[in-house]
Amino acid sequence: MRKMLFAIAAAAIFAAPSAGMAQAPIIIKFSHVVAPNTPKGKGSEKFKELAEKYTNGKVKVEVYPNSTLYKDKEELEALQLGAVQMLAPSNSKFGPIGIKDFEVFDLPFLLPSLASLRKVTEGPIGKKMLTLLNAKGMIGLAYWDNGFKQMSANKPLHMPEDYKGLKFRIQSSKVLEAQFRLLGATPQVMAFSEVYQALQTGVVDGQENTPANMYTQKMDEVQKYTTLTNHGYIGYVVVVNKKFWEGLPADIRGQLEKAMAESTAYANTISAQENDDALAAMKKSGKTTFIVPTAAEMAAMQKVMEPLYNDMASRVGKQLIEDVRRTAQGATN
Ligand code: LMR
Repeated sequence: MRKMLFAIAAAAIFAAPSAGMAQAPIIIKFSHVVAPNTPKGKGSEKFKELAEKYTNGKVKVEVYPNSTLYKDKEELEALQLGAVQMLAPSNSKFGPIGIKDFEVFDLPFLLPSLASLRKVTEGPIGKKMLTLLNAKGMIGLAYWDNGFKQMSANKPLHMPEDYKGLKFRIQSSKVLEAQFRLLGATPQVMAFSEVYQALQTGVVDGQENTPANMYTQKMDEVQKYTTLTNHGYIGYVVVVNKKFWEGLPADIRGQLEKAMAESTAYANTISAQENDDALAAMKKSGKTTFIVPTAAEMAAMQKVMEPLYNDMASRVGKQLIEDVRRTAQGATN
C-alpha cells in the first residue's frame, strides 16, 4: 500500500508542469440566471470568445446560463466563496448582501433613456458605486444593459387601481417591494428561475420584466396581458471574485480587461435590439395581449409611485438619488 502511494506521489511529481510543458488553463466560471439568447447571455458568450482569444487559451471561460449552477441569491454567495469567479447580477440583487446603493436604479421613471443611464454608469457616480463592492470581496468590472420593464398579469393593467390585491413577483429589492405596495399589490421576492412556474400555477398573479427576459422564459404564454409601461430598468453589474482577480498575472488580467471592455461595448450595443426583437416575437405569437397605456394612465402610475423617491431616501441615499436624477435627466434623448 505504502509502495503504491509512493509510486503515485512520484508520478505526480514527474507529471507536474515544467517550463516546457503546457500549463493547465485558468478557469473562469461565469454563472448567470437568464437564457443564452438575451443581452446578458450574449454578452457573456462574447466575453468568453474574446478572453480566450486574447489570452491565447491561457484562460478558459465556462459560461453557465439559466441558473444551471446557482439561482439569484446563491450565485452571489458562491462568488464570495470563490466557487465561481464571475457573475452579472442585476442591480436589484445586491441589497441582500448589504449594498443598497444599486437599488437606486430600481426607482421607476428615473431614466428617460439608455443614453441617460449611461451618463450615470459611465460617469463618476457609476465608478464610485463600483468601489462599494470591494468590501464584499468582489470587484465591479462593468455595467451591462438589459432594458426597460413592462408589467404583466392575467387582467388588463391600465390604472394604479388595477394592481390592487394582486400578487407580483419581484427581484430582491426594497425599492421594488415599496413600488408594488404603493400600487396596493403584494410583492413577493422570488428567484428568476421560478417565475414561469409561479405564474403558470397562480402562486403569483403578475410580474415586471424586460421583453427579452419575458420572451426567453415564455412568460408571455402564462400572462394574458402585458402593459408597455417602460416604468423601470434592468441592468447588470459584472463582478469578479476580488482575490481571484488580484491573484492573476498582470498581463493576463490586462488581456481580460480588454476582453471585458469590448464585450461590454458589444452587450450595450445589442441590448435595445434584443428587446425590440423579443417584443416583436411576442406580438407575433399573440399569446399575451399588449396594452399601450394612454398618457393619462402613465401620469397616474407616475403619480402613485412618486413618493418612493422620499420613502427610499434613507435606504438608498438622498444625495445619490438626487445625483442620479440630475445626471440622468440632464442627458439628451
Ligand atoms: C430578474 O430576476 O428578473 C432579472 O434580474 C434576471 C436577469 O438577470 O435579467
